Amino acid sequence: MPGELLAPDPSPVERVAVRRRFLMCSPVHFAVEYAINAWMTPGVAVDTALAVRQWEGLRDTYRALGHEVLELEPVPGLPDMVFAANGAFVVDGHAVGARFAHPERAGEAPAHAAWLQAAGFGEVKPTADVHEGEGDLTVVGDLVLAGTGFRTQRGAHAEIQERTGRPVVSLDLVDPRFYHLDTALFPLDDTTVAWYPGAFSPGSQAVLRRLFPDGLEATEADALVLGLNSVSDGRHVVLPAAATALAAALDQRGFVVVPVELGELLKGGGGPKCCTSELRG
Ligand code: ARG
Repeated sequence: MPGELLAPDPSPVERVAVRRRFLMCSPVHFAVEYAINAWMTPGVAVDTALAVRQWEGLRDTYRALGHEVLELEPVPGLPDMVFAANGAFVVDGHAVGARFAHPERAGEAPAHAAWLQAAGFGEVKPTADVHEGEGDLTVVGDLVLAGTGFRTQRGAHAEIQERTGRPVVSLDLVDPRFYHLDTALFPLDDTTVAWYPGAFSPGSQAVLRRLFPDGLEATEADALVLGLNSVSDGRHVVLPAAATALAAALDQRGFVVVPVELGELLKGGGGPKCCTSELRG
């Protein structure tokens, strides 16, 4: 609409950022050597130096926004370790250790557990069932949203509810392109989320619309560039640069969009959120 940009917003929403503490792991050993999700082609050429530069861009973006970023030592032979979100689930200062679905990534869990224990998160025990940390778990206010269908098993949801004392809402993922919850949904603040409905079963879509009537529903095009694999601090949303419609919708809602480029890591099926483990409380 002509003149739209000049018209003052009649009721600007002042979004408030909350400082976060993140754990990240450099992709110095990143490669695509096996395929455990629909995005991975084994042997595809990976420019590791570019992956590292893109990852450093993400890390430095968080720091410039005022967030604390701690680093986990990368382990040779664990090419997916850059996707630090999967190593544990930390809430209220308590860490629940991951149990990876695929043996290729199993070695990452003890590395996270050792780091978290040394950092004072107590004894970090894995769940009995498969659970891939923040890949499939996120926190919105008091609630934990938990994905299942491809990786994290439903039994782990119950265990996490028991261990954290927070209500866990199980959500069924149905599209293999969106194999982790964090490829299809991210919290915008303590009250609402952005999400791609097509990734969820009809019942889970209904649950999400009931819990978050003002949730931002993203397009398939934005989901396919991993636009839902984003990180919001309540004001700034760090998201893949290619998710342009989502960026416009966020801007309309008063969020400050901070685009990042992580194209090399997309070859492993991950985006900004996958690289970011949040240490809560
Ligand atoms: N290649 C990794 C895997 O398939 C990507 C993990 C992405 N992490 C995430 N939190 N979605 O396990």
